[in-house]
Amino acid sequence: MDPQSAAPYFDSLVSYVEAGVLSFHMPGHQQGAGAPGEFVDLIGQGALRADITQVQGMDDIHRPFDGCLRAHQLAAQAYGSERCYFLVNGSTCGNQAMLLASLDPGEVVLVPRNAHSSTVGGLLLSEARPVYYQPPFDAEMGVFHVASPDSVLAVMERNPGARALFLTSPSYYGAAADVDALVALARQRDMLVLVDEAWGAHLAFHPRLPRSAVWAGADLVVQSSHKLVCGLSQAAMLHANGQRVDRARLESVLRLLQTTSPSCLLVASLDTARRQLAQEGRALLDQVLGLADQARAGLEAVGATVWARRPGVHDWDDSRLVFRLPGFSGYEVERRLRREHNIQLEMSDSHNLVALITPGHTRQSIDRLLTAVSRLAGQAPEKLPDGRRPHLPELPESRLSLKQAFLARWESVPLSKAAGRICVDTVCPYPPGIPWLLPGEVPSPALIEELQAELAAGVTIQGAYDPQLETVRVVKE
Ligand SMILES: Cc1ncc(COP(=O)(O)O)c(C=O)c1O
Repeated sequence: MDPQSAAPYFDSLVSYVEAGVLSFHMPGHQQGAGAPGEFVDLIGQGALRADITQVQGMDDIHRPFDGCLRAHQLAAQAYGSERCYFLVNGSTCGNQAMLLASLDPGEVVLVPRNAHSSTVGGLLLSEARPVYYQPPFDAEMGVFHVASPDSVLAVMERNPGARALFLTSPSYYGAAADVDALVALARQRDMLVLVDEAWGAHLAFHPRLPRSAVWAGADLVVQSSHKLVCGLSQAAMLHANGQRVDRARLESVLRLLQTTSPSCLLVASLDTARRQLAQEGRALLDQVLGLADQARAGLEAVGATVWARRPGVHDWDDSRLVFRLPGFSGYEVERRLRREHNIQLEMSDSHNLVALITPGHTRQSIDRLLTAVSRLAGQAPEKLPDGRRPHLPELPESRLSLKQAFLARWESVPLSKAAGRICVDTVCPYPPGIPWLLPGEVPSPALIEELQAELAAGVTIQGAYDPQLETVRVVKE
């Protein structure tokens, strides 16, 4: 029998539910019996009956010895890692754990400046010293892609003592790095490789998809099993290869960062998502890629600009649908698709839109999307929206560590008065989602002027306490 046909953790949950145990344990709704009626109506008795945490028979995800351990082993086998850990707080927790487990305070880690905000959280916790590099910028699309060997080599040469290379690949838009070449560069320098592969839980299951960093031999790789494959929201996996990162330390970090009451539903969904991919992944992803190809052709036929396989980008996840509709901002298309057509995309930026195509889609879903986009395309305003200049200033000087600044006593000052002050806030114009300021960094007058110009152009700011950025939090003097 194919070992991947088993789902031992899911089976334990089914057994518990079917046994009809009289429960005096958490959660207080007692498998739905005490849950508010409107909530039961929304999610159903079945989900509530299975909403339990680690009682007898359900193993312990922090120290697995039974069904959860076997589920971890099957996931490791399916993804090709030496060890897999299930996560119930997303890749957010995985990124934090990778950094906290691998780096001692003060050790240098090379980090792409467009890394997800959870990476900043991990840097803050670990007190490692980030040295940022910029992945190549795609001026036509207006986005930063993923690390290239050239961009990484340059930062490695400037930082010969760096302990680890942090990579984000694939990106939100589907760009994928040459993970083999990057791992090889790091190994030549005896550096660890930590990879945020949140957008890559499907990669291992279809030859047309980019190569997973797990196969390239990265030390730690995190994947969100809820993004492109069928785990429940928050479900994710952390894969470990080799012994360069101390496993005992990694496991104690995971115990520190994760809840002591993990949802058995989330854990079981990881087990069945893995089984589904191992057994039917090739066929499901054939279907996904076929639908995405049809959608790309349909979008082009109605006048959309479709992005795929960009020059200078090593590989591309073709399951991602990335496009723009000339004459519209990406934000407006996203808003109008929702308001006028009851369709919600994954995200938009000032120009582009990203739709995820997953095993949950059918030809009908694609047809509906194409009909809606073609109706919008017929109403394109004559004047193109002003695109924000794809500009990125020099990286600011850092005067305090992320942690010192994050925890510092602060005061709010008008943005116009923030030059020369040490930032407590993160200031991240989105898109393209690269922080211009992180805690501890000091903006120059030129950077403040640039920020003001971006705000006047209507950019959205992420990370700051005042989202309008009329004021910014700085270290109190
Ligand atoms: C590149 C990247 N890493 C990590 C995360 C966090 O993942 P999660 O939502 O699973 O916590 C995200 C979320 O969008 C992401 O885009």
